[in-house]
Amino acid sequence: MKLLLFLVTTIVAGISVIHCTESGPDPNKAKLIIIGAGPSGIAAATKLVTNGEEDFIILEAENRIGGRVHTVPYEGDTSIDIGAQFIDGQIGNPIWEMAVEHNLASNESCEENKNLVFFNSSGEPIDQKDSQTLWTIVDKSTYANDDKEMENYNGSLGDYVWEKVRKELTNNASLSHLLSSPRFEQMLDYFGKMENSVDASDSWFETSAKGIALYDNLDGCGVQWKKGGYGNILKLLMKQLPGQTPIDLSKKIILNKEVSKINWTDPKSVIIECADGTSYTGEKALITVSLGVLKTKPNLFVPQLPDWKTNAIENVHFGTLNKIFLRFPHKWWPVDLVGINLVWTKHDEETLFKEVGGVDGRPWVNDISGFYSSTEDPLTLLGWIPGPSARYMETLTDTQVGIDSMKLLRHFLPNFTIPEPTRIIKSTWSTNPHFKGSYSSRTVKTEKANTSQAELAKPIVNGEGKPVLMFAGEATNPLHFGTVHGAVETGWREADRISGVPLQSPLAKRARFFQR
Ligand SMILES: Cc1cc2nc3c(=O)[nH]c(=O)nc-3n(C[C@H](O)[C@H](O)[C@H](O)COP(=O)(O)OP(=O)(O)OC[C@H]3O[C@@H](n4cnc5c(N)ncnc54)[C@H](O)[C@@H]3O)c2cc1C
Ligand SMILES: *[C@@H]1O[C@H](CO)[C@@H](O)[C@H](O)[C@H]1NC(C)=O
Ligand SMILES: *[C@@H]1O[C@H](CO)[C@@H](O)[C@H](O)[C@H]1NC(C)=O
Ligand SMILES: *[C@@H]1O[C@H](CO)[C@@H](O)[C@H](O)[C@H]1NC(C)=O
Ligand SMILES: *[C@@H]1O[C@H](CO)[C@@H](O)[C@H](O)[C@H]1NC(C)=O
Ligand SMILES: *[C@@H]1O[C@H](CO)[C@@H](O)[C@H](O)[C@H]1NC(C)=O
Ligand SMILES: *[C@@H]1O[C@H](CO)[C@@H](O)[C@H](O)[C@H]1NC(C)=O
Ligand SMILES: *[C@@H]1O[C@H](CO)[C@@H](O)[C@H](O)[C@H]1NC(C)=O
Repeated sequence: MKLLLFLVTTIVAGISVIHCTESGPDPNKAKLIIIGAGPSGIAAATKLVTNGEEDFIILEAENRIGGRVHTVPYEGDTSIDIGAQFIDGQIGNPIWEMAVEHNLASNESCEENKNLVFFNSSGEPIDQKDSQTLWTIVDKSTYANDDKEMENYNGSLGDYVWEKVRKELTNNASLSHLLSSPRFEQMLDYFGKMENSVDASDSWFETSAKGIALYDNLDGCGVQWKKGGYGNILKLLMKQLPGQTPIDLSKKIILNKEVSKINWTDPKSVIIECADGTSYTGEKALITVSLGVLKTKPNLFVPQLPDWKTNAIENVHFGTLNKIFLRFPHKWWPVDLVGINLVWTKHDEETLFKEVGGVDGRPWVNDISGFYSSTEDPLTLLGWIPGPSARYMETLTDTQVGIDSMKLLRHFLPNFTIPEPTRIIKSTWSTNPHFKGSYSSRTVKTEKANTSQAELAKPIVNGEGKPVLMFAGEATNPLHFGTVHGAVETGWREADRISGVPLQSPLAKRARFFQR
């Protein structure tokens, strides 16, 4: 069967018959071609091997595997994560379970969230009481919402939270004074910035409230890896830890292979062309490239994908979140400080840093939500920046990013003597053509287009109802999009689809979301 297909596709592709009779398998052919070696591609591959399927290859555009999991060596024996960093929730998170089993993560890092301070742009720590109260109410309105109210709300997350919190304070005599406090507006604005970092969104007035409500937030905390960062997930998936029998993918992964065309004209084969002129033929393809890549390559598929799929690619959002690492010669911040949240007053937002570049007249540093000591290296602070300012930041030199960030820090913390940073690293997820951004989310536009990550997940079938093009990756996870565990789950889902194993992943239990 396989041999016959081999022959047919070879003739179609016009390759000489002499080639076909050569001994050994053709390296440019496999039953399945996986495009992308990020967490979803690696999860699919390892699951396939476990299922007993070996006839596949993986084409990866970068010179490394891991995709948006990108752990790099840093000072001494430490490393930093340019991309994913936290195991996002514990209960029901397969990555947390694997990490604990191998002692790579523990509950200890959960304690860390407690010592966050909020500084306002007048350079003063905001009194904890009011900010904590507001924070709790905003957080509860957004995340602890088990009625159907948010799920049925048509508008944006920003509108929903503002309305909800206003109502909450108005109806509570002991809290209503906060409505007229400048702290109210400041904290809500700040929360919006945080939320943009969480969702990699341009504005929480674009993010859909319904999308947030339907997102399955796992219980437990955001866990940090003890050592080695999120890169550990690749070792866990490929079973490369001491005492494990490794799953060897080295002969199956081909690096520096940027796929430029996926030709599925023939219902029984898929011809994959690469930017370097090589081509690969398979019976089917599993596409795991980011939604950003799909959006920016409208001619990737020959023929074009059906309208329902194109609608999903165009209208599910793919946003930007970047990181800024600043290393200092010594620790100038209080020993137990884990994070500095930067809360702006309206006045300062409109007047400060006019000399700093940015988008639409707003200095880019306005969108840094804070700096945190959440890296392996004790002398490094990590800043987060989402949206248009994050994309602007990518165009600056590292030196300029350092200069502008220092202006911001010194303004917010005038009572600290802050030395010049000795090392500056920034991420550039939007500029990189193999990512074109950070991760997906649902916006009001997504809802209006009546689409979602569930549509991105559906395979394209041939005349016989057999999947020819399949899709995995974070943006195909209707419940856990934007995460590594979400990406891994979709890789497993598609591997099981390919192996003909009934879908067993946690996603299957929540099948209603596939129906939207
Ligand atoms: C700054 C940042 C912080 C994050 N923080 C967290 C976090 O704390 N916790 C969390 O759970 N998640 C986090 N995420 C999200 C997480 O990294 C992603 O959801 C996840 O890695 C996506 O995996 P994937 O397999 O879907 O896609 P990818 O990792 O993007 O893998 C796809 C692969 O396809 C390759 N590719 C692209 N185009 C082509 C082509 N034309 N031909 C061949 N190959 C191609 C890419 O190079 C890539 O290797 C973060 C992401 C970013 C950017
Ligand atoms: C983590 O903490 C939770 C809640 O306290 C507990 O149930 C769980 O057993 C802990 N897990 C580990 C691995 O320590
Ligand atoms: C900062 O220093 C000034 C002058 O010494 C002092 O008045 C002020 O209280 C300090 N602020 C903080 C937040 O420590
Ligand atoms: C900044 O915070 C301090 C302490 O809570 C407060 O006294 C001050 O008024 C705040 N500044 C502005 C402009 O809100
Ligand atoms: C939500 O949108 C739908 C379709 O546009 C509309 O029919 C419905 O009335 C809206 N609901 C609310 C609460 O605004
Ligand atoms: C009012 O707010 C206080 C403080 O958050 C809370 O303890 C109390 O339960 C609230 N009352 C009502 C009626 O919601
Ligand atoms: C797509 O593949 C078919 C064979 O299946 C071939 O005839 C056609 O020319 C290819 N189209 C493009 C644009 O490469
Ligand atoms: C939305 O899409 C679903 C299928 O995904 C379809 O059943 C439904 O009719 C669509 N609704 C509208 C209003 O187009």
